[in-house]
Amino acid sequence: MKRLLSGITPSGDGSLHIGNYLGAVRQFIELAKSHETFLMVADLHGLTTIQDKFKLQHNIETLVLNELALLRGFMTESEFNNIIFFRQSDVPMHTECQSIINNVTPLGLLKRAHAYKDKLQKDVMEDDINVGLFSYPMLMAADILLYQADLVPVGKDQKQHVEITRDIAGYFNKIYKKNVFKLPDPFIPDEVAVVLGTDGQRKMSKTLGNVVSIFESEDVVRKQVMGAYTDPTRKHATDPGHIEGNMVFTYLGFFGHPTEVAALKEQYKAGKVSDVEVKEYLFKSLMSFFGPARSAYEELKNNPTLVKKILHSGQARALSVATQTMKGVRDAIGVTTTYSFFEYQKSTSGTHISIDEFARVEIRVGHVVEAANKEGSDKLIRLVVDVGEDSKRIIFTGVRGFGYTPDDFTGKQFFFITNLAPRKMMDEESQGMILAVDSPRSEAGGVDNKPQFISAEGMAVGAKIR
Ligand code: TYM
Repeated sequence: MKRLLSGITPSGDGSLHIGNYLGAVRQFIELAKSHETFLMVADLHGLTTIQDKFKLQHNIETLVLNELALLRGFMTESEFNNIIFFRQSDVPMHTECQSIINNVTPLGLLKRAHAYKDKLQKDVMEDDINVGLFSYPMLMAADILLYQADLVPVGKDQKQHVEITRDIAGYFNKIYKKNVFKLPDPFIPDEVAVVLGTDGQRKMSKTLGNVVSIFESEDVVRKQVMGAYTDPTRKHATDPGHIEGNMVFTYLGFFGHPTEVAALKEQYKAGKVSDVEVKEYLFKSLMSFFGPARSAYEELKNNPTLVKKILHSGQARALSVATQTMKGVRDAIGVTTTYSFFEYQKSTSGTHISIDEFARVEIRVGHVVEAANKEGSDKLIRLVVDVGEDSKRIIFTGVRGFGYTPDDFTGKQFFFITNLAPRKMMDEESQGMILAVDSPRSEAGGVDNKPQFISAEGMAVGAKIR
């Protein structure tokens, strides 16, 4: 069975509006029939804006009640019992995972994130933006990856975050050469990708004050509906009205009875029904549509023991999956609790590189044209070496500590590795490496590890060892 995960942040006052329902919760309910479903109250995400403990706690509880009421209101009991509903902060692996995946994520990926860029557009200085907001996509990636989700149902505003998550999973798997994380797909039905607010202009959102609530009192919901944008060109109820862009008809498309709505549309276009009448019809449709969820809300509100039980069981089931994933992550990055010294030795000090691999190392005879102490360093000697190419190479050796001076090199020939990736040494790059061997044991019995350079006197400059 494929797995889905999604989350909602307890922002605003924690309550849900019809944009959240259409853009997210409706999909959770539908997909839960055929998917193992993890739904999370993303309370740690709330910290980017809410830094008052009472407010945060209030919002979390409101969101828990709202979301559970929708799920219980619209699902059968067995469907509901299959859902794993939990609080993000009840599973400490979210932050552990975030802190690990930080290390495989380029800064540029986060700088391109909309939430951060939007914040920059407002009158906020970059230096004042909190790091939590900047790294928000990392926490969200951890949320998703921890559960090895196949599918993430969200509104369009979260699409980029799921794409970032895919990128991060890809980087991690590539770096550690193991498919530790599954790459998730977003699930965003077109018709609800962005549900517009009652202003008819912008995305429905609590902070913009353009919402239609689900669980507020009837008076509040009626008022929100009465304030909805309809057809500004229509002055009187007898004027022909327009349906396109009219928010009342947009919402009716989801919550009204199709034949009644079709009839109302005809009447509206013919100037035979007033705005107030269609709004009243929308209000009644909402109350009837959300009726089962509103009753479930009252029930849950009066039964905190049941809510705690649901959260407790969700926590246990979420923990077991998250623990399993983190075991794989810890193993991949090398922080297992197993004493693995011998395995490490095997994997690194093994004598086992193939002849073909060894043949890739290019070693040539080089003539040192010039040698000088590198200014600003007490170890490095800078060699200018002719290895038989058009131009000479700069190659550093860090041996002044052993008593070597430039004179030990100037005009002489040694062996050099010539196909190493250049390595930065102070302000220059070393374009190769001179070969040396350990000295014999000193008379004192210890190991005198002064390197001795392998002379290539008399050999053709540029000749290759083979
Ligand atoms: P949040 O809390 O802002 O929104 C919850 C869900 O509702 C959708 N949504 C909308 N969809 C269509 N039209 C609208 N007007 C509208 N308003 C909200 C959102 O797209 C979202 O799907 N970062 C996430 C929460 C999160 C999460 C996760 C989601 C945290 N971790 C892991 C998925 C997977 C957020 O703040 O959503």
